[in-house]
Amino acid sequence: MSRLRVALPKGRLFEPSAGLFRSAGAAIQDSGRKLLIPSTDPAIEFLVVKPGDVPVYVESGAADLGITGTDVLRESGADVLEPLELQFGFCRLVVAAPTHAHYPALPGGVTARVATKYPRLSQAFFAAAGRPVDIIPVGGSVEVAPLLSLSHWIVDLVDTGNTLRANGLVERETILHCGAVLVANRASQKLKLDAYLDLMERLEHAG
Ligand code: PRP
Repeated sequence: MSRLRVALPKGRLFEPSAGLFRSAGAAIQDSGRKLLIPSTDPAIEFLVVKPGDVPVYVESGAADLGITGTDVLRESGADVLEPLELQFGFCRLVVAAPTHAHYPALPGGVTARVATKYPRLSQAFFAAAGRPVDIIPVGGSVEVAPLLSLSHWIVDLVDTGNTLRANGLVERETILHCGAVLVANRASQKLKLDAYLDLMERLEHAG
Protein backbone atom coordinates (compact mmCIF):
# COMPACT_ATOMS: atom_id res chain seq x y z
CA MET A 1 0.00 0.00 0.00
CA SER A 2 1.27 3.53 -0.73
CA ARG A 3 2.54 5.78 2.04
CA LEU A 4 0.46 8.79 3.05
CA ARG A 5 2.09 12.01 4.23
CA VAL A 6 -0.02 13.99 6.69
CA ALA A 7 0.50 17.67 7.59
CA LEU A 8 -0.36 18.40 11.22
CA PRO A 9 -0.72 21.96 12.53
CA LYS A 10 1.43 23.34 15.34
CA GLY A 11 -0.35 25.11 18.17
CA ARG A 12 -3.67 24.38 19.78
CA LEU A 13 -4.85 21.85 17.17
CA PHE A 14 -1.69 19.75 17.45
CA GLU A 15 -2.50 17.62 20.52
CA PRO A 16 -6.04 16.64 19.47
CA SER A 17 -4.82 15.97 15.91
CA ALA A 18 -1.97 13.73 17.07
CA GLY A 19 -4.42 12.05 19.50
CA LEU A 20 -6.86 11.28 16.70
CA PHE A 21 -4.18 9.61 14.58
CA ARG A 22 -2.87 7.76 17.66
CA SER A 23 -6.38 6.34 18.21
CA ALA A 24 -6.44 5.38 14.54
CA GLY A 25 -3.24 3.34 14.96
CA ALA A 26 -0.69 5.88 13.68
CA ALA A 27 1.09 7.37 16.71
CA ILE A 28 3.83 9.93 16.12
CA GLN A 29 7.26 8.52 16.85
CA ASP A 30 10.02 10.58 18.36
CA SER A 31 12.26 11.75 15.55
CA GLY A 32 14.50 14.30 17.24
CA ARG A 33 14.64 17.41 15.08
CA LYS A 34 13.67 15.66 11.85
CA LEU A 35 10.77 17.36 10.08
CA LEU A 36 9.39 14.25 8.41
CA ILE A 37 8.22 12.16 11.34
CA PRO A 38 7.55 8.42 11.13
CA SER A 39 4.53 6.89 12.85
CA THR A 40 3.81 3.48 14.36
CA ASP A 41 2.07 2.72 11.04
CA PRO A 42 4.77 2.46 8.35
CA ALA A 43 2.22 3.61 5.75
CA ILE A 44 1.79 7.00 7.42
CA GLU A 45 4.31 9.77 8.07
CA PHE A 46 3.79 13.26 9.43
CA LEU A 47 5.12 16.72 9.02
CA VAL A 48 4.31 19.46 11.49
CA VAL A 49 3.86 22.95 10.07
CA LYS A 50 2.32 26.29 10.97
CA PRO A 51 -1.48 26.03 10.87
CA GLY A 52 -1.74 28.58 8.07
CA ASP A 53 0.61 26.51 5.91
CA VAL A 54 -1.40 23.26 6.00
CA PRO A 55 -3.73 24.19 3.08
CA VAL A 56 -0.86 24.98 0.71
CA TYR A 57 1.03 21.78 1.58
CA VAL A 58 -2.09 19.73 0.86
CA GLU A 59 -3.28 21.65 -2.20
CA SER A 60 0.16 21.31 -3.81
CA GLY A 61 0.43 17.60 -3.00
CA ALA A 62 3.52 18.07 -0.81
CA ALA A 63 1.29 16.41 1.79
CA ASP A 64 -1.50 13.98 0.89
CA LEU A 65 -3.65 14.93 3.86
CA GLY A 66 -3.72 17.51 6.61
CA ILE A 67 -5.63 18.84 9.57
CA THR A 68 -6.49 22.50 9.71
CA GLY A 69 -9.17 24.85 10.98
CA THR A 70 -11.94 25.93 8.63
CA ASP A 71 -10.94 29.53 9.44
CA VAL A 72 -7.49 29.04 7.94
CA LEU A 73 -8.85 26.89 5.12
CA ARG A 74 -11.47 29.42 3.97
CA GLU A 75 -8.98 32.27 4.27
CA SER A 76 -6.51 30.37 2.07
CA GLY A 77 -9.07 29.57 -0.62
CA ALA A 78 -7.17 26.29 -1.20
CA ASP A 79 -8.80 23.78 -3.54
CA VAL A 80 -8.74 20.59 -1.44
CA LEU A 81 -11.16 17.84 -0.46
CA GLU A 82 -12.71 17.99 3.00
CA PRO A 83 -13.58 14.36 3.71
CA LEU A 84 -14.04 14.61 7.48
CA GLU A 85 -15.21 17.23 9.97
CA LEU A 86 -13.47 16.66 13.30
CA GLN A 87 -14.90 16.99 16.78
CA PHE A 88 -12.43 19.56 18.11
CA GLY A 89 -11.08 23.03 17.46
CA PHE A 90 -14.48 24.71 17.65
CA CYS A 91 -14.39 28.52 17.69
CA ARG A 92 -15.91 31.53 15.95
CA LEU A 93 -14.53 34.20 13.67
CA VAL A 94 -16.09 37.44 14.87
CA VAL A 95 -16.04 41.19 14.50
CA ALA A 96 -15.19 42.75 17.86
CA ALA A 97 -14.92 46.34 18.98
CA PRO A 98 -14.08 48.25 22.16
CA THR A 99 -17.06 48.33 24.56
CA HIS A 100 -18.11 51.91 23.79
CA ALA A 101 -16.98 52.07 20.18
CA HIS A 102 -19.41 53.04 17.43
CA TYR A 103 -20.72 50.03 15.51
CA PRO A 104 -21.68 49.15 12.78
CA ALA A 105 -20.80 52.60 11.42
CA LEU A 106 -18.54 55.41 12.53
CA PRO A 107 -19.83 58.96 12.88
CA GLY A 108 -19.23 61.43 10.08
CA GLY A 109 -19.01 58.72 7.44
CA VAL A 110 -15.46 57.79 8.51
CA THR A 111 -14.36 54.46 7.03
CA ALA A 112 -13.62 51.97 9.82
CA ARG A 113 -10.20 50.36 10.00
CA VAL A 114 -10.32 46.64 10.82
CA ALA A 115 -7.21 44.77 11.97
CA THR A 116 -7.13 41.04 11.29
CA LYS A 117 -5.17 37.92 10.45
CA TYR A 118 -8.04 37.07 8.07
CA PRO A 119 -8.03 39.82 5.42
CA ARG A 120 -9.86 37.84 2.72
CA LEU A 121 -12.70 36.62 4.92
CA SER A 122 -13.06 40.05 6.53
CA GLN A 123 -13.09 41.89 3.22
CA ALA A 124 -15.67 39.47 1.84
CA PHE A 125 -17.89 39.80 4.92
CA PHE A 126 -18.01 43.60 4.89
CA ALA A 127 -18.29 43.76 1.10
CA ALA A 128 -21.28 41.39 1.19
CA ALA A 129 -22.90 43.67 3.77
CA GLY A 130 -22.21 46.73 1.58
CA ARG A 131 -20.14 48.34 4.33
CA PRO A 132 -16.77 49.63 3.10
CA VAL A 133 -13.87 49.19 5.56
CA ASP A 134 -10.09 49.46 5.40
CA ILE A 135 -8.56 46.10 6.26
CA ILE A 136 -5.27 46.23 8.18
CA PRO A 137 -3.53 42.85 7.92
CA VAL A 138 -1.56 41.86 11.04
CA GLY A 139 0.14 38.60 11.99
CA GLY A 140 -1.08 38.19 15.58
CA SER A 141 -1.92 39.93 18.87
CA VAL A 142 -4.81 41.48 16.98
CA GLU A 143 -6.68 42.42 20.17
CA VAL A 144 -4.20 45.17 20.95
CA ALA A 145 -4.87 47.07 17.70
CA PRO A 146 -7.90 49.11 18.90
CA LEU A 147 -6.15 49.95 22.18
CA LEU A 148 -3.36 51.56 20.19
CA SER A 149 -5.69 53.15 17.62
CA LEU A 150 -4.20 51.06 14.86
CA SER A 151 -7.79 50.04 14.08
CA HIS A 152 -11.37 50.79 15.18
CA TRP A 153 -12.49 47.14 15.18
CA ILE A 154 -10.91 43.72 14.77
CA VAL A 155 -11.83 40.41 13.18
CA ASP A 156 -10.43 37.45 15.09
CA LEU A 157 -11.11 34.01 16.50
CA VAL A 158 -12.95 33.63 19.78
CA ASP A 159 -12.98 30.49 21.85
CA THR A 160 -13.61 31.25 25.54
CA GLY A 161 -13.82 35.02 24.98
CA ASN A 162 -11.13 35.61 27.62
CA THR A 163 -8.75 37.43 25.28
CA LEU A 164 -11.46 39.82 24.10
CA ARG A 165 -12.61 40.56 27.66
CA ALA A 166 -9.07 41.07 28.91
CA ASN A 167 -8.58 43.74 26.25
CA GLY A 168 -11.90 45.55 26.72
CA LEU A 169 -13.46 44.25 23.50
CA VAL A 170 -16.96 42.87 22.86
CA GLU A 171 -18.25 40.65 20.07
CA ARG A 172 -20.46 42.45 17.56
CA GLU A 173 -21.09 39.94 14.76
CA THR A 174 -20.18 36.38 13.91
CA ILE A 175 -18.62 35.84 10.49
CA LEU A 176 -18.00 32.09 10.60
CA HIS A 177 -18.35 29.10 12.93
CA CYS A 178 -15.08 27.18 12.70
CA GLY A 179 -13.74 23.76 13.60
CA ALA A 180 -10.95 21.37 12.73
CA VAL A 181 -11.29 19.49 9.45
CA LEU A 182 -9.36 16.78 7.64
CA VAL A 183 -8.30 17.94 4.18
CA ALA A 184 -6.98 15.86 1.30
CA ASN A 185 -5.17 16.50 -1.95
CA ARG A 186 -7.47 15.86 -4.90
CA ALA A 187 -5.00 13.87 -6.99
CA SER A 188 -3.52 11.73 -4.23
CA GLN A 189 -7.00 10.74 -3.08
CA LYS A 190 -7.34 9.04 -6.49
CA LEU A 191 -3.75 7.82 -6.89
CA LYS A 192 -3.54 6.35 -3.39
CA LEU A 193 -7.16 5.34 -3.08
CA ASP A 194 -6.63 2.09 -1.13
CA ALA A 195 -4.47 3.71 1.54
CA TYR A 196 -6.79 6.72 1.64
CA LEU A 197 -9.97 4.67 2.17
CA ASP A 198 -8.28 2.49 4.77
CA LEU A 199 -7.14 5.52 6.78
CA MET A 200 -10.49 7.27 6.41
CA GLU A 201 -12.29 4.30 7.91
CA ARG A 202 -9.86 4.14 10.84
CA LEU A 203 -10.20 7.91 11.48
CA GLU A 204 -13.99 7.75 11.37
CA HIS A 205 -13.99 5.02 14.02
CA ALA A 206 -11.29 6.75 16.10
CA GLY A 207 -13.05 10.12 16.12
C1 PRP B 1 -6.39 32.86 19.29
C2 PRP B 1 -7.15 34.06 18.79
C3 PRP B 1 -7.39 34.86 20.05
C4 PRP B 1 -7.51 33.79 21.10
C5 PRP B 1 -8.96 33.55 21.42
O1 PRP B 1 -5.06 33.15 19.36
O2 PRP B 1 -6.42 34.77 17.81
O3 PRP B 1 -6.30 35.71 20.31
O4 PRP B 1 -6.94 32.59 20.58
O5 PRP B 1 -9.13 32.60 22.44
P1 PRP B 1 -10.05 32.90 23.71
O6 PRP B 1 -11.37 33.41 23.21
O7 PRP B 1 -10.20 31.56 24.39
O8 PRP B 1 -9.33 33.89 24.57
P2 PRP B 1 -3.95 32.02 19.62
O9 PRP B 1 -3.82 31.77 21.09
O10 PRP B 1 -4.27 30.80 18.80
O11 PRP B 1 -2.61 32.71 19.15
P3 PRP B 1 -2.30 33.59 17.86
O12 PRP B 1 -2.78 34.98 18.15
O13 PRP B 1 -0.81 33.49 17.74
O14 PRP B 1 -3.02 32.96 16.70
